Amino acid sequence: MTLKELRKYKHITQLEASILTDIPLRTYKRIENDPIYVSTHKYKHAFNVLSDLNDSSSSNETYKPKHILVIGAGYVGLSIAVLLSTDNKVSIIDINKDKVDKLNKRESLFKDKEIEFYLKNKKLDLTAYIPNKELYKNVDYIIIAIPTDYDEISGELNTSNIVSLIDEIRSINKSVPIIIKSTCNIGFCDTLTNKKNIFYSPEFLREGKALYDNLYPTRIIIGGDISSRYIKEFGHLLARHALNRPKVLYMAYKEAEAVKLFSNSYLALRVAYFNELDSFALKNGLSSKNITLGVSSDNRIGDYYNNPSFGYGGYCLPKDTLSLIHSMDEVIDNGLISSIDRSNQKRKEFIILDILERLKDKKDPIIGVYSVASKKGSDNKRYSSILDVIKGLENKGINILYYDESKMDISFFKKKCDLILLNRHYEEFSDVMDKIYTRDIFYRD
Ligand SMILES: NC(=O)c1ccc[n+]([C@@H]2O[C@H](COP(=O)([O-])OP(=O)(O)OC[C@H]3O[C@@H](n4cnc5c(N)ncnc54)[C@H](O)[C@@H]3O)[C@@H](O)[C@H]2O)c1
Repeated sequence: MTLKELRKYKHITQLEASILTDIPLRTYKRIENDPIYVSTHKYKHAFNVLSDLNDSSSSNETYKPKHILVIGAGYVGLSIAVLLSTDNKVSIIDINKDKVDKLNKRESLFKDKEIEFYLKNKKLDLTAYIPNKELYKNVDYIIIAIPTDYDEISGELNTSNIVSLIDEIRSINKSVPIIIKSTCNIGFCDTLTNKKNIFYSPEFLREGKALYDNLYPTRIIIGGDISSRYIKEFGHLLARHALNRPKVLYMAYKEAEAVKLFSNSYLALRVAYFNELDSFALKNGLSSKNITLGVSSDNRIGDYYNNPSFGYGGYCLPKDTLSLIHSMDEVIDNGLISSIDRSNQKRKEFIILDILERLKDKKDPIIGVYSVASKKGSDNKRYSSILDVIKGLENKGINILYYDESKMDISFFKKKCDLILLNRHYEEFSDVMDKIYTRDIFYRD
């Protein structure tokens, strides 16, 4: 079977295939139509991705659409709402009216290629609303995806908004299954007074790839009463929208909560580990690129998620790690997990000192900041590690110049700055390499 035959068999368009395979549309069309590409890596990759598509999404299986209410139109809520609205009736609530209006005009609320594509091109049964208790009635499922911020005083995630929301839902609808997608502390669900038909399903998406990660979930985890028919039904609901064949694991609440926090803490630890390797290399005049690539060539370690940065940041890794540290410290005298956050703080201090060292001979230096986004390709600035580095530099009296596309020409910005901070490589700075400060090993030697 050729790639074209396979795509047609799966009932998907070339545009969808290009998105699913992450190959630009023009390139995709070329590899699909020109036989010289058959033995290339891209052709094989596209073939594998399309082969792996879940057949249930292209089959004519009889499916009775559900009515689902999602609360919170952020990365988690919006991606799941878009995904499920391809063949269910989905209502989504957000306290932010601007977001509701934008969604009803089919505009995405943040940068996400797949969400933008689905909102513009797919037939979705999706309507957004500001909060209204009437919406709790006559629905098959309610999914909660509101923020759970870190509370410095308790040392845990603040879940009081989830408790209030559940109480409000239950005052209107006594039995509708509620799925909590927001990240919770380990043990949170056990503290709920009425646990009937309440499930916890941790979310593992990446910002900027939110819908993609729901189309290709690494696993689906659901915690709660495993004898309930709803737990299986919801697992099936998520799995049937996935284009791969994810593992679906059912377990106790506390185990599902632990899966989420141990997963994110492992990612934080991995970032911290390669950052410490990089600090060591820098102090000793060694190439951290050589060491990292050498270390990562061992399949047991893996050549991924190993590129040094200014520190881990973003909305989830810092707070989820702190929540796990809190739970760990309560039960065992641990040495590793409790040190992850400390390592990350030390890394940011190290970076600040290294930058100051580079500028020690400059009088009144100006440091340029091109982007404060947490990740390249994302427009989210929440708890980005570069913000802490900037704060540290400002405390030392350093002048910071922020690049603003609407007010400043890029050549003026490059000229004005003595050093430009780039957590990740940006092609447009290749002409001022001597001014760039980055720890991205794919950018520098
Ligand atoms: N962002 C991620 O990458 C990610 C990944 C996995 C899990 N999570 C977890 O999922 C949860 C949501 O994260 P997010 O990034 O989607 O958050 P977000 O801040 O992007 O979005 C949350 C949305 O909920 C709305 N909201 C707040 N309170 C509300 C209420 N009472 N009723 C209705 N709407 C309300 C806000 O206006 C906002 O639009 C958090 O617990 C987070 O830790 C996030």
